[in-house]
Amino acid sequence: MRLDRFLAECGVGTRSEVKKLIRKGAVSLNGSPQSKADAVVSPEADDVFVFGEKIVYREFIYLMLNKPAGFISATRDGKTPTVLELVPKEYLHFKPFPVGRLDIDTEGLLLLTNDGDLAHRLLSPKKHIPKTYLAEIEKAATPQDIEDFSVGVVLDDGYKTMPAKLTSIRDDYPYLAEVVVNEGKFHQVKRMFEAVGNKVLYLKRTKMNDLELDQKLELGEVRELTKDELLLLQNTDR
Ligand code: URA
Repeated sequence: MRLDRFLAECGVGTRSEVKKLIRKGAVSLNGSPQSKADAVVSPEADDVFVFGEKIVYREFIYLMLNKPAGFISATRDGKTPTVLELVPKEYLHFKPFPVGRLDIDTEGLLLLTNDGDLAHRLLSPKKHIPKTYLAEIEKAATPQDIEDFSVGVVLDDGYKTMPAKLTSIRDDYPYLAEVVVNEGKFHQVKRMFEAVGNKVLYLKRTKMNDLELDQKLELGEVRELTKDELLLLQNTDR
């Protein structure tokens, strides 16, 4: 790989910015100053320093966003703000995209990555990756609702969902429920509650696969996954 491309992919700057840095003598390759932008670099084997700081190459980025309402889960849209607008600039050169969708009014855990293979595995209908949601609902969930969710409910288009786990999580406020679904149909949770004559007033995703939303992450904040979190997410063979 060319040195200028390597540096640009590592987020050091745009292709023309890094070319300037190379010309200025700010870049060294395996201990010697390197003034040629087209010098060949092996990301695994070579040591590249910029202003004396080692540049670590990586191909993939994995970001956790605590999505606020008002943003759509897309990379581009004419008028509505997209979740990409919440991603700090330093990550944009990796070209991250959201893994699946949360509705515009849904909050919580959204993964953004440029790892197409992992995204594919997490979204594959064959994998049945569990997703956990906190829902505030209009009417308290009944034992019958819990039973109906546990065998699957019939949605407005006639589709019978897979079994889902519905749990009332607070005795003092029966309008809060946790729902775990193993598929990702359009507006799935909202439509499942509608199927039992109820309505979702607020929805937040708290978990995807075994990865939990960091409670300390403010709405609209983004951070990289830790190595352990990534391992939890990558375990898609269940
Ligand atoms: N189910 C919904 O209804 N909406 C979401 O955003 C996610 C799951």
